[in-house]
Amino acid sequence: MKLCLAAIVLCFGLSEAFFFNRRTATATGEASPQCFAQGSAGRCEFYSCFENRLPCGSRGYMSKYGGYYCARFAEMYDTFDQQGKDWINASSRCMTERLLAYYNQDTVQCHDLAHFAWNTWSACYQETGFCNVFWANRQAFWNVYQFRDLFNLGSGKIWREMIQITSRCAALRGSAEFTERGGFQGMIENIRNIGDRIRNTVSKK
Ligand SMILES: *[C@@H]1O[C@H](CO)[C@@H](O)[C@H](O)[C@H]1NC(C)=O
Repeated sequence: MKLCLAAIVLCFGLSEAFFFNRRTATATGEASPQCFAQGSAGRCEFYSCFENRLPCGSRGYMSKYGGYYCARFAEMYDTFDQQGKDWINASSRCMTERLLAYYNQDTVQCHDLAHFAWNTWSACYQETGFCNVFWANRQAFWNVYQFRDLFNLGSGKIWREMIQITSRCAALRGSAEFTERGGFQGMIENIRNIGDRIRNTVSKK
């Protein structure tokens, strides 16, 4: 089962390379103070006003991930415990505040923006204490990152990020549940190492 999941994740990882976003977004108008306010407050509307000004399209980070998952968390808000709710507000705000750095620009490379956004995603999860709320809210998280999303093209990225983040929680905590996920991550690392070993062997010849 684990091998099976790893294979799926790796496949989606590879397929994403074919959908690499080379687009450059050009500002469609002035930066709006209202959008700034939404970004500073961590509101989901920020993603659509960002996308309206600097459109990277439906496969861009803002539409496909940022706005989409922000709305999912808002929809599922009541299924989280109080700590989880506080975490949703803190992490949403952390992400939109940092994305504001790009909002002012006149042009944006969509790929760079996505790269920055994923780093922000991962950094904000850690800084706002995702590891402290994850286990108690695991069912709610699972509902947000619905299983069917696993079969949407490009969603492998979310799963790889989640695996990495939960594995870091494992390193912090070492609980049995997290060790399970650490094992999963370890296996993916092994698969990567096999690639390196092959390359080393080939380059020695
Ligand atoms: C916290 O997040 C929820 C869901 O997005 C939102 O409805 C609520 O207004 C937020 N609360 C604060 C204080 O920002």
